[in-house]
Amino acid sequence: MNAPAKVGIGTPLSRVDGTEKVTGTAKYAAEYNVPDLLYGVAVSSRIAKGRITALDEEAARAVPGVVDIVSHRNRPKQAWLDRSWKDELSIPGEPFKAFHDEQILFAGQPIAVVIAETFEAARFAASLVEVSYTEEAHNIDFEASLAEKFTPSHLKRRNNYHPPKNRGNADAAFKAANLTVEGEYHLATEHHNPMEMHASTVEWHGDGSITVFDKIQGPQGDQAYLASAFGLGKKNVRVVNSYVGGAFGSGLRPQWQVQLAVMAAIHLERSVRVVMTRAQMFTHAHRPECSYSIKLGAEHNGKLSAMINSATTSTSRFESNMEDIVVWGMMNYDCPNASGEYFIAPRDTYTSADMRAPGAATGMTLFEIAVDEMAYKAKVDPLDLRLLNYSNVDAMNETPFTSKALREAYREGAERFGWEKRTPQPRSMKEGRELIGWGVATGMWDAQFSKTAARAVLTDDGRLEVASAASDIGTGTYTVMVQVAADTLGITPEHIRAKLGDSDLPTAPVEGGSWGAASTGAAVQLACQSVAKQLLKAAEKIEGKPLHGANSIDDLVFADGAIALKTDPSRIVTITDVMKAAGLDRIEVEETASPGISGMISMMRKSRNTHSAIFCEVRVDEELNQVRVTRVVNAVAAGRIINPKTARSQILGGVVMGIGMALHEETFGDRQLGRWMNHNYAEYHVPAHADVEDIEVIFVDEPDPEVTPLGVKGLGEIGIVGTAAAVANAIYHATGKRVRALPITIDKLL
Ligand code: MOS
Repeated sequence: MNAPAKVGIGTPLSRVDGTEKVTGTAKYAAEYNVPDLLYGVAVSSRIAKGRITALDEEAARAVPGVVDIVSHRNRPKQAWLDRSWKDELSIPGEPFKAFHDEQILFAGQPIAVVIAETFEAARFAASLVEVSYTEEAHNIDFEASLAEKFTPSHLKRRNNYHPPKNRGNADAAFKAANLTVEGEYHLATEHHNPMEMHASTVEWHGDGSITVFDKIQGPQGDQAYLASAFGLGKKNVRVVNSYVGGAFGSGLRPQWQVQLAVMAAIHLERSVRVVMTRAQMFTHAHRPECSYSIKLGAEHNGKLSAMINSATTSTSRFESNMEDIVVWGMMNYDCPNASGEYFIAPRDTYTSADMRAPGAATGMTLFEIAVDEMAYKAKVDPLDLRLLNYSNVDAMNETPFTSKALREAYREGAERFGWEKRTPQPRSMKEGRELIGWGVATGMWDAQFSKTAARAVLTDDGRLEVASAASDIGTGTYTVMVQVAADTLGITPEHIRAKLGDSDLPTAPVEGGSWGAASTGAAVQLACQSVAKQLLKAAEKIEGKPLHGANSIDDLVFADGAIALKTDPSRIVTITDVMKAAGLDRIEVEETASPGISGMISMMRKSRNTHSAIFCEVRVDEELNQVRVTRVVNAVAAGRIINPKTARSQILGGVVMGIGMALHEETFGDRQLGRWMNHNYAEYHVPAHADVEDIEVIFVDEPDPEVTPLGVKGLGEIGIVGTAAAVANAIYHATGKRVRALPITIDKLL
């Protein structure tokens, strides 16, 4: 036998769940056809604030097939009347409780759920429920809400909020600066709009236990939430989310449809499904609107001397959602004087929420527009200005990075894009009736690692199953699990099955924050290494002891279903032979990967981030002001890449969403009605196929054994950060028109 060839980490394996997804056999939350299922359709509030005074259900109840209508008047008693519980990612304030009482907190709030034998009967009957209200004054207008902005007293470091740390004297330095840029930058409200709408199918087992097929980014957080909110006990709630049709953060926290479905199931002691309509998808999570005041000071050559940041983002009246908006520029650039302040402003909507790269996608992007303005002020190439102010350390926290290959990303991205051919003057590049503009921006995101467990089961037919209560929200977790297992144990991917999306599986956090690949990957690797150790021990029982001399699994090569000695590849044995010789029909282990004490110490001493350099070409029709994003090169420094194919897909998706942020995405509120007006795909625009032209993704070499056990930094979010700034900066270069409010719609270019 020859020395086995290595497969696994670093190979462009196609998605292992690809066939299920494209053939429709992958089941999503609303596709589990449990027996005797009832269908629930929510009645939504048409007012933004006030109280329900009457519910006329007569006509609705007369519809054939209607079983019951559940509302605040007859809902089952809930444990959440004790307001102490929280969901996994809950934030300061009180989480929304559907049907809690007659109070209306936001337009579209579910008031009642009509339960029927068919979906059609439920939908029709829901349209017949007459609700009377007393209305109160409301405000969903962000500008108006700024009058009430505040810095919450509980603003302290938490999962995705890190208070800014000031340095030097930014005000004095700004006053003394040779060159200044001062502006108000703005990002519109955006809604997540995953393809799959929020849905829950609750299976009532009749013994006090339920299985919930839910659209959620983490089954165990959902399980804990439902168990405590409804007083069911964890053992009585199982949550399954095998497939998630996109989420972008809208599924981090359980949304109201699961409250309705579980309430109705308990009330009727039946299985119930509730699916939001597309319009109802606009009644929960959304990216906060942001107003960001930036002042930059610099010397004549463009060397930054002052940064003053002040930002406000929107939240609801019942919870205080906070994001890292003002810290990104302060961390990224070498500038001796910098300050940041941050406020939130409440409005009468549902609470804003995490949406792909929450905080950075907004703050870093808007900041990178201001940096571009400074480059023009200083008459310095925008890329050179960034290199001039390059910081090798995290300039805000004064900590080194575990790695930062942003310089390489700038260089490789510029080279691939052909940046040196750029002429500096705005409006200096043209072809036909289109102005051409080239822009650059920087992206930055966290490289996080969360404690995660995984199980590995190897059977004597040479097949392996790896399992964790992780989720795959479309990002490729299944594939990462298979690949890491294939890499560690040398088993061909076809013989490996990954299981996730089930609260019964080993403990894992929600999938979010781009920590999935690093965390689930590390757990799978640890479990597979543990299997490997048992195989090494078992090999001692084989006649001739082919692996004798190996002191640890590091002395072995695992590939092609076989194990060989590193020093003598002719000493080789198949995994199935090892198991048979040792009389083992299965090896089962569970391991937990966690940062540990040394990891925690390293986290305090060093910053861990991904970086990117985005180069963008736009073509702007001079007569119509229509903008086309014709070319994007996104060069990403994100540590070790497990799968270049799925990794590239993550960045492509992020760039497309960044194009949406730059040009399309915006939810409009009607001030009188207090509602989101464009609550559908026809009027809430996301980039369509025709809006997406040439996108190239580069991963620069960034070895980093310290950041996480696999050296992986994560890719789900970095692709969107800064991309909209690269588009905005390219538009300025093309047109000479600086737009500081995203999205840059045609009217803003007039
Ligand atoms: Mo992401 S916004 O952490 O799902």
